[in-house]
Amino acid sequence: MAERVFSGIQPSGVIHIGNYIGAIKNWVSIIDSYDCIFCVVDYHAITVGYTPSELRERILETAKTLIASGIDPDKCTIFVQSRVPEHTELTWILNAVTPVSDLERMTQYKDKKLQNMDNINTGLLTYPILMASDILLYKTNAVPVGDDQAQHLEFTREMARRFNSRFGDTFLEPKTLLGEATRIKGLDGNTKMSKSLNNYIALMEEKEDIWKKLKVAVTDPARKRRTDPGNPYICNIFSLHRMFSSEEELGFVEKGCKTAEIGCIECKQILAKNINDTVSPLRDKMRELDRNTDYVMDVLEEGRKTCSRLAGATMEEVREKIGVIY
Ligand code: TRP
Repeated sequence: MAERVFSGIQPSGVIHIGNYIGAIKNWVSIIDSYDCIFCVVDYHAITVGYTPSELRERILETAKTLIASGIDPDKCTIFVQSRVPEHTELTWILNAVTPVSDLERMTQYKDKKLQNMDNINTGLLTYPILMASDILLYKTNAVPVGDDQAQHLEFTREMARRFNSRFGDTFLEPKTLLGEATRIKGLDGNTKMSKSLNNYIALMEEKEDIWKKLKVAVTDPARKRRTDPGNPYICNIFSLHRMFSSEEELGFVEKGCKTAEIGCIECKQILAKNINDTVSPLRDKMRELDRNTDYVMDVLEEGRKTCSRLAGATMEEVREKIGVIY
């Protein structure tokens, strides 16, 4: 039997090419080799400020984006976290075996605390427990995540060990499946492409908008004039080429930049074309899904059923072990 993979994506905004390269594309590549479950983690998304009407739209939008990106519902399970209440139930139980100090140490919590000074809610702190519950409920063998989530995964393994040693063997310790892709920088040169920094290219961006955004994107700052040679290895545009362009084009822009044979505009035009070539079939598929919301709803309902069954069985075992079945 194939090993189980579980991963989650927050419905917290427009999905950009960084999310695609950093996560979704890796998911697509393993879909045939594992028994995959992909989850739209809406209960994680409510730990930071949001508008209910927008969240409602984004849950569906996120599910559609996954399907449009090649996460084929016939080959895996896709569902929405809040529709399977066992996730929050297990979270409560794991809360009771987790030292507060372990949570306070998490890097993402410390970062988010600084970013959300006006709303440091308990959910921000216990976020990793909900994530551990997502994973452990399905006896997951492996979790594909970006390096920013590696600490949460280590925490999940610790959680499994702690529970198992106290109540007997119940959970598996999941492996981390790190994708090949590194994190994509923002167009402004910031270390992370993110919606909140508005330095992204959306996955469903129209052709003209891809160009508008790339045109003004930061390049090697030392290359001020067209005749100055550039350093591709510090240029974010070159790192994007690595993800979207052919070997041949890569060689061409690498040499062209270093020798000033090509300018940044020409280099960016090649990239714009390649990004558009990658995302245009996804855009088409998305439009098709927009006209077919019933299909997406059916996929999510099927996913809910499958996951309820699996999560329900694990929870019965957990309730029994912790002593609440009488
Ligand atoms: N915390 C993850 C992120 O922000 C999302 C997530 C929630 C997740 N539950 C998960 C990822 C379970 C993998 C497995 O990217």
